[in-house]
Amino acid sequence: MDTPALRPVEFDLPAPTTAAQCPATTGRAWARVPEPLPPAHKAETMGRIRELLQSRGAVLVAHYYVDADVQELAEATGGCVGDSLEMARFGRDHPADTLVVAGVRFMGETAKILSPHKRVLMPDLQATCSLDLGCPAEDFSAWCDAHPDRTVVVYANTSAAVKARADWVVTSSIALDVIADLHARGERILWAPDRHLGSYVQRQTGADMLLWQGACIVHDEFKGTELELLRAEHPHARVLAHPESPQAVLAQADVVGSTTQLIDAARKLDASHFIVATDQGILHKMRAAAPGKSFIAAPTAGNSATCKSCAHCPWMAMNELAGLVRVLEHGDNEITLDPALGQRARRPIDRMLAFADARRQRVRASGDLARDMALYQHVGPA
Ligand code: 13P
Ligand code: SF4
Repeated sequence: MDTPALRPVEFDLPAPTTAAQCPATTGRAWARVPEPLPPAHKAETMGRIRELLQSRGAVLVAHYYVDADVQELAEATGGCVGDSLEMARFGRDHPADTLVVAGVRFMGETAKILSPHKRVLMPDLQATCSLDLGCPAEDFSAWCDAHPDRTVVVYANTSAAVKARADWVVTSSIALDVIADLHARGERILWAPDRHLGSYVQRQTGADMLLWQGACIVHDEFKGTELELLRAEHPHARVLAHPESPQAVLAQADVVGSTTQLIDAARKLDASHFIVATDQGILHKMRAAAPGKSFIAAPTAGNSATCKSCAHCPWMAMNELAGLVRVLEHGDNEITLDPALGQRARRPIDRMLAFADARRQRVRASGDLARDMALYQHVGPA
């Protein structure tokens, strides 16, 4: 068998919070370069995946950043395409015995933690995340030990071992609400790993937070100064940004939110043009949700730069149709977890899901269904 092509991916290691343990500030991982199917094979392969999902009693749970064909398949076969919170909920609640998670490793692990008796398969188990890589469990645990008086809140983009050490897990769609609630109760926070999401939430809530210094290799590339220039070229465009983006970008955003919340904003806001600061995989669903509107990629480098980031996660790109066929045919790439670790990691995730359910009920009771569909934050450009 041919060795798959690999591309190196540089990512940040945390500093200075764990400088003692992690003297380096960048690390290197690998992502497999996807091999697109010849168009003649695509329809046949998609048909095969549909058959296999049915015959194996499996359901496909996909993220918005994966290949558009995989998203289409998930929807057409009764699965789901969603943000991290929705993927977790859907996998937990769906009766299928086998979940096929098209996303990155932490999403598959979360599905397994919430459904330990289900089989959880992934097209490629090496599909990871720079936030997860940048927050090794041992270093993180030492940091928690050094701050025993703080409530530990971790982003979903972490390993099961890191989640097992946390009081709360949050996703981008609920981080602000959870921290605001903890702050109102007088709790001081230890936050990991995304520094941009952490400082955004800190600025919005005024909470006392110590931040781990991880970053997403995709969102970290968006540039504030270049965005200002682009906004000047498109003065009527609204800016939609994922909170993993740097502060200089978030300060110019009309809406900051999770992937689902950004898609919802594109549909609901009264504007014809949007500048989008998140992984470009989202554009497939955004265009479908808001036909006739125009979407412009937020800049990742200056006009004179020789290298521009493609704003597409190299690990999300590893979720290919061929990989789906392989796992469904052979049951490869199953997520396994130590049950005791899974149980410990489950507590803070359940806490988040209960919080999200209560929030949804409150919003429903208030009759504001539009808000239930989109709890995104309008911050408005600075
Ligand atoms: P969402 O939960 O907003 O989908 O984000 C997940 C992610 O990894 C963004 O980079
Ligand atoms: Fe992780 Fe960034 Fe990829 Fe999301 S886009 S999975 S945060 S590396």
